[in-house]
Amino acid sequence: MYEGLLKQYKEYLPITDKTPQIALAEGNTPLIPLKNLSEELGITLYGKYEGLNPTGSFKDRGMVMAVAKAVEDGAKAIICASTGNTSAAAAAYATRAGIKAYVVIPDGKIAMGKLAQAIAYGADIISIPGNFDEALKAVRDIAETEAVALVNSVNPYRLEGQKTAAFEICEQLEKAPDVLAIPVGNAGNISAYWKGFKEWHEKKGTALPRMHGFEAEGAAAIVRGEVIEAPETVATAIRIGNPASWKLAEAARDESKGHIDSVTDEEILNAYRKVAAQEGVFVEPGSAASLAGVIQHVKNGRIKPGETVVTVFTGNGLKDPDTAINETTITINKMSDLEDMRRHLRE
Ligand code: F0G
Repeated sequence: MYEGLLKQYKEYLPITDKTPQIALAEGNTPLIPLKNLSEELGITLYGKYEGLNPTGSFKDRGMVMAVAKAVEDGAKAIICASTGNTSAAAAAYATRAGIKAYVVIPDGKIAMGKLAQAIAYGADIISIPGNFDEALKAVRDIAETEAVALVNSVNPYRLEGQKTAAFEICEQLEKAPDVLAIPVGNAGNISAYWKGFKEWHEKKGTALPRMHGFEAEGAAAIVRGEVIEAPETVATAIRIGNPASWKLAEAARDESKGHIDSVTDEEILNAYRKVAAQEGVFVEPGSAASLAGVIQHVKNGRIKPGETVVTVFTGNGLKDPDTAINETTITINKMSDLEDMRRHLRE
């Protein structure tokens, strides 16, 4: 039986005899062939559907490792800043480990599903008037003086856990893809994947992909080469103006001969609707940034015809019901009886 990442990839992770075996059967997510989009784009496209992790995002991979190490080091509480998904994962794994989670979120800018999760898992929720970057600065300061372990991706154990997604892709494809497309917010995940691909290649000779990362245009600090003081995007998950893993992400881009580019909210929403309507895969807006980027790179030639591309769908569409409803033309046919329904179906 599959139990989770700490067991599955024990020899690739910083696990000792004293590391508690925390698990929610995270990881082992499907690599879904996107047949209609492949045909349309003239490439072989797969979606790594991280929205099927236990709390609905890739954050579970890093959080299981970070919480296990925090508990091993004697922590009784963890803290993180979050645009929503990290807080959901932190809350769930803290509960699992029997410790407390403090989550610090930007006021009014987190998707409802994510907030609902933090509440349900029993986190102590703190909201601040600033954005994610300010929340991250606050928790970094707090963790210096208070007895809480910081579990944002500046904690290296987070990237260790998250690198396992690259292992899975290489196992599922039986090689590395030509291109790995991924949304970039705080830039931890692109860095983790690159680490994972390099380690797997060293052990198994699976080759290396080009890393293509995508920021939202209104939060494209790495693309523009400057901190964005007031980042804005419909993709609240990646509404980040000063990515903590900026340097690591640039290294992943340069070492892999890849790119970090930006996508507009319009491109994000187009990709968001398209993958649900054409492939039956519902992802959150932040996750659709990677598909928006693939479409852009097929058009401008950065992805070539026939290449094998994996696009990472970092979070589940159910996380953000407001965007689903507000950004789509909705037709709900109200009917009061069976005759009405019959007529409707026959039309
Ligand atoms: N996709 C989703 C759904 C996310 O929640 C995040 C980050 C990213 C992509 C970007 O990953 O930060 O490693 O570059 N969410 C963080 C959070 C910031 O607080 O949940 P990254």
